[in-house]
Amino acid sequence: DPIAAPDLTKCGNAELSDGTVLPVDCCPPTALEIIDFKPPPFTKLRVRPVAHKVDKEYIAKYNKALSLMKALPDTDPRSFSQQADVHCAYCNSAYDQTGYPGVELQVHNSWLFYPFHRWYLYFYERILGKLIGDPTFAIPFWNWDHPDGMKMPSMFTSDTSSALYDVNRSPSHQPPYVIDLDYSPSQDAGKPAKPYKQQVDENLTTMYKQMVSGANTQSLFFGGDYRAGEPPENSPGSVESRPHIPLHIICGNENNKNGEDMGNFYSAGRDPLFYCHHGNVDRMWSLWKQLPGKKKNDITDPDWLNATFLFYDENAKLVRVKVAGCLDTKKLGYVYEQVDLPWLKKKP
Ligand code: C2O
Repeated sequence: DPIAAPDLTKCGNAELSDGTVLPVDCCPPTALEIIDFKPPPFTKLRVRPVAHKVDKEYIAKYNKALSLMKALPDTDPRSFSQQADVHCAYCNSAYDQTGYPGVELQVHNSWLFYPFHRWYLYFYERILGKLIGDPTFAIPFWNWDHPDGMKMPSMFTSDTSSALYDVNRSPSHQPPYVIDLDYSPSQDAGKPAKPYKQQVDENLTTMYKQMVSGANTQSLFFGGDYRAGEPPENSPGSVESRPHIPLHIICGNENNKNGEDMGNFYSAGRDPLFYCHHGNVDRMWSLWKQLPGKKKNDITDPDWLNATFLFYDENAKLVRVKVAGCLDTKKLGYVYEQVDLPWLKKKP
């Protein structure tokens, strides 16, 4: 059976993966009514832009929207702190699976990874658009698969007074540090940076592996299946394991106990950079389906298609969404700005 949306009235303690209870309450408010999601009508597709190429006006607009979100009271499910806690609740064992008390609900390391995060970003974007009265507002994506995007996008780092800034980031990986898409703290922490050209080359090779040679089946790309009543999987899809996880670790502050913010699930959503990073992860799903080759399409197993989640929408209404409802981003009203894919020609 498909994994069912959690029961918000039974939300419990957030825990680290080793079972340590975290001193945070990341449970959302409850609601009397749950609405089944229907995509709202739109007249113009939202185009999510490349983060390192946007202009000053765009940055000012995003900063404004996020400032308004941060100014909402913490009790409002649309506030930035509640948005961040969505990730904590779905990822740090605050929920049991509905109908299976004691069986944790986890949206990582399985085929739920792409659809959960797509929906999460969708509502984050819609709330921001609503707050500035601009339903065409689209969040930026961190184009880390392109040489020009292989550092933290400056809109998040250059102005410490911006709502896009987060103090809980790695001091050693600030721009102009060139990110290593295959970063592993045990091997790479504290090592001197590789020459620029070498790092870029290695990154493109990593992208080729994760998107092409190592992702030529659905289960390699999406991750393992995960059904109602099963304990959380440990079979992440190719891109989920790399570069998605290395980027989280690179961005979080290695001097904080749990790598906060980006370096731990419970705190990752507190960094605005999270949503930009995940924009590109989400874009990889769209791109993969367009790559040449057989079987580059969505899973057809009903246990995947009918899995459900709950989110608060831009009107603070609690809605139930299905995996099947997010397969085509155009139906959700958005697409990604097109840029070239230098890794596509990067066979090792
Ligand atoms: Cu839910 Cu990047 O993790």
